[in-house]
Amino acid sequence: MYGLNGIKITGGIPLQGEVQIQGSKNAALPMMAAALLNRGTTVLLGCPKISDVFLMEHILNHLGAKTCWKGNTLEIHGGDITTFTVDEEAGSQMRSSVVLLGSLLGRCQSAAVPYPGGCVIGKRPIDLHLDALKRLGAVFREENGMLIAETCGLQGAVISFPKSSVGATQNAILGAVCASGESLLLGCSKEPEVTWLCRFLKAAGAHILGEGTDTLRIRGVRELHDVEFQIPADRIAAGTYVCASAITRGEGVLLGAPIGEMEALLWAYGKIGGQYRYNSGKLTLHSLNATKPVQLLETQIYPGFPTDLQSVFMAVLATAEGDSCIVENIFEDRFKMVSQLQKMGALIEVCQSKAKIRGNSLTGARVEAQELRGGAALVLAGLAARGETYVENRHFIERGYEDICRDLSHMGARILKD
Ligand code: UD1
Repeated sequence: MYGLNGIKITGGIPLQGEVQIQGSKNAALPMMAAALLNRGTTVLLGCPKISDVFLMEHILNHLGAKTCWKGNTLEIHGGDITTFTVDEEAGSQMRSSVVLLGSLLGRCQSAAVPYPGGCVIGKRPIDLHLDALKRLGAVFREENGMLIAETCGLQGAVISFPKSSVGATQNAILGAVCASGESLLLGCSKEPEVTWLCRFLKAAGAHILGEGTDTLRIRGVRELHDVEFQIPADRIAAGTYVCASAITRGEGVLLGAPIGEMEALLWAYGKIGGQYRYNSGKLTLHSLNATKPVQLLETQIYPGFPTDLQSVFMAVLATAEGDSCIVENIFEDRFKMVSQLQKMGALIEVCQSKAKIRGNSLTGARVEAQELRGGAALVLAGLAARGETYVENRHFIERGYEDICRDLSHMGARILKD
């Protein structure tokens, strides 16, 4: 009846099955970029099969790298890099392509990347990335919409970030690991995806001290060596499924959920009345009483509440018994899906970075995903809504979720690709 590359959901069923958590998108993408610093073979185990990973694979292939999949294992052979120019169409579709600046400069002394795209969730400038790489000795110019970077060889430097940025920290790390001499990075992002990039790089021969803190010391090496590395579980996908359990007042078991990285989300889940147990890699959820509102929930840098889970949590609060408030502190335009939730009966009022939410019951509707996490929030709203919901443009959701329909079906949802 629809056939618009969407997702059809019949709401009202409390979830209860088991789901295995996929590998992390935000950890995998910078590791793929880092593979350019190894002329040999990089093996990424548990790599999520999502469209952003396929896009990054396409970009690496265009640069001359060879790739091959065996199940969820991605092998990248970096021996034959033939160009330093990132494919314009692919690169402009994905924000993470900007981290190729650091690794291409390290590998080729030159890089050309289109101004990065990604989800439409605010201005998302790249000044911090450029400033950091300039400190390492890169010079930049713009030519026909492409950003061109060159260096006579990156040199270790002191880089002090005035603001915590995941991407800029990763870019600086990627530039510094094969620069000559030592670098000191201050004010680094402490998000787990930065820590995982450091762990990966160390496994490939990089010298890095201080991972997990805001101060990193890096001693440059000539190049990375062969490495096989397990991509960590996706804390955002796991958090999404916690919210799916909550919004349906169901249950659910998440296998391999990285709960050590999910403290803020689990705190918020507890606040609304959710209960959980963690045992031998299994996170067991009881959401029958997950009905309470939250007076104030603010997104913050890690270990605060992640901006990537703000939309899905808002969907949950839209069904709570009372009034809640969310403040978005990371990105200025991350309430895009509110108009779609309103079509389903949600009572949400947005004023700049603040959203006031009055709990209500939702009704199925035809809605449109406009970006990745907002799209997931609409799917969750559909699980709770009376009747049928159709979420158009599932390709946005497929950027980050391997198969949200498969996973939620495993938890007992009536959900189909259409
Ligand atoms: C951000 C999230 C990350 C999430 C990802 C995808 C944070 C801190 N980061 O990472 O968890 O997975 O989006 O949705 O929550 N900024 C600048 N100049 C720059 C770079 C960033 O001003 O050069 C600003 C941004 O506008 C933003 C803040 O710094 O307000 C944090 O951005 P950053 O961490 O760089 O964003 P991502 O790396 O995309």
